[in-house]
Amino acid sequence: METERYFLPHIAWMEGYVPGEQPREAGFIKLNTNENPYPPSPLVVERLLGACNEGLRKYPDPGATGVRQRLSRLFGVELEQAMVGNGSDELLNIALRCFAGPGDSVVYPYPTYAYYEKLIQLQGARSVQVDFGEDFSLPESILVPGARLTLLSNPNSPSGTLLSVEEVEKVAARAEGLVLIDEAYVDFAAGGCLELLGRYPNVIFTRTMSKSFSLAGMRLGFGFAPAELVAGMWKVKDHYNVNQLSLVAAEAALDDLEHMRANAARIQATRQRLKGRLRELGFYVWDSQANFVLARTPGPSAAGLYEGLKERRILVRYFAQRRLEDCLRISIGTDGEINALLEVLEELLKK
Ligand SMILES: Cc1ncc(COP(=O)(O)O)c(C=O)c1O
Repeated sequence: METERYFLPHIAWMEGYVPGEQPREAGFIKLNTNENPYPPSPLVVERLLGACNEGLRKYPDPGATGVRQRLSRLFGVELEQAMVGNGSDELLNIALRCFAGPGDSVVYPYPTYAYYEKLIQLQGARSVQVDFGEDFSLPESILVPGARLTLLSNPNSPSGTLLSVEEVEKVAARAEGLVLIDEAYVDFAAGGCLELLGRYPNVIFTRTMSKSFSLAGMRLGFGFAPAELVAGMWKVKDHYNVNQLSLVAAEAALDDLEHMRANAARIQATRQRLKGRLRELGFYVWDSQANFVLARTPGPSAAGLYEGLKERRILVRYFAQRRLEDCLRISIGTDGEINALLEVLEELLKK
């Protein structure tokens, strides 16, 4: 490509991240990007409608004070320990920009959220992938001498598996650099690791409103870290990184935690049912603590099942990559959506 020469070489050669499909036409059952099948709190919609007025001519609060005050109160952290981003992807992006430069090692277990690798490449940093155990346990080799940053998705995507606080604490205590714990799916899990915030100076947490709060479209992520780290990371963000409507939506969502919790509980119940039925059908299903499950097929090709489901307008995620070639990742939908998925899967398996 003629224009390649204009780009920095490491950008020219890298391939961009490919998000899950967002079909243009209606009528798909979308179980491919871990969105929440239930609507956000009615309070979010009500406050958003109220905020669509002439006030939009002004810039939003660059400090996202209203959201951070709520986070501080709800999670028992200091205001200065809370940060807000345009999706948690932005907070991950800021972390990489702050902490990893050309040639620096950034470690993460494999397979995990594929965007980590792209962010590392963008920095010209060195990606150090350490294979998870077969059961998605964390190997000792995750402690890489000299690593600037270790990234842990917990629960992990695409396996849904959860590392215990003790396992994560061992990494935080022994890692030479920072440890970022990506808790995007924590509200669907038995528990998170936030208690480590006060105990270790090198831990950073990211969370999101995209999954449990049903607000993927608003792009609202938040995070916690020791105050000095937050202050440093704040220098790197765009001044007005979160738009006014997203701030309004986030405040409302945090004012109605009950709504989120009730939806998370419904999703956990459907997850349990889906896991059970997939196992009866012969799939190997890892023990997911997230709003999706990873299932290894009992024989037929996973790519074939993915295509067969897509023909019937059901989208799941297939990753053509090492260790996942024979697996499908299925987001938890409504009970009706999961029934439809199971019906088609059973038909495909009979063929
Ligand atoms: C593990 C993990 N972290 C972070 C994100 C980013 O979420 P968002 O940018 O919507 O907050 C995702 C999205 O799918 C994810 O799977």
